[in-house]
Amino acid sequence: MHTLKEVISEQEIQKRVKELGKEISQVYDGEPLVVICTLKGAFLFFSDLVRHISCPHEVDFVRVASYGSSDTSSHTISFTKDIELNVEGKHVLIIEDIIDTGLTMEFLLNQLSARKAKSVKVATLLSKKARREKSISIDFVGFYINDGFLVGYGLDYAEKYRSLPSINELEL
Ligand code: IMP
Ligand code: MG
Repeated sequence: MHTLKEVISEQEIQKRVKELGKEISQVYDGEPLVVICTLKGAFLFFSDLVRHISCPHEVDFVRVASYGSSDTSSHTISFTKDIELNVEGKHVLIIEDIIDTGLTMEFLLNQLSARKAKSVKVATLLSKKARREKSISIDFVGFYINDGFLVGYGLDYAEKYRSLPSINELEL
């Protein structure tokens, strides 16, 4: 058992997700859009967010694995599940739970841009700016956070706590 300290409440999350949905709907109005969920962490954010995206869109899912030590130079990232839709000529919006070092998002941006999408943008619920190693442009951010390991609303620690409706700091 760990001690959890709530940092973002369910109400705050839901309010912000609704705002992000509105912003996103205005950007893509009338254009073909594919919204991509990065499994597993973004599953709740994604499912709540798409219900607030009022423009027509398709959904798809990816899962990436990262291997290697925390020494980032030896980090390898690969798909364990790729998307299934053809994104050529369509706008792509990648939905992520948290962007930390930026390595995962850099990989996804490179991979998806190579498929001739009309545009590739990023929405993340959380951004941990202090730990960024790759400079990537994030188009929609739910909340900026400082350090600390977060769980809940999709985020896990050893596969635990993903289903909590709020975001909590794990006190190890
Ligand atoms: P990055 O490649 O360092 O940006 O890492 C992104 C991934 O690391 C996220 O999609 C999460 O799966 C995981 N991650 C980073 N920080 C946290 C955290 O505080 N809690 C849970 N997972 C995290
Ligand atoms: Mg993730």
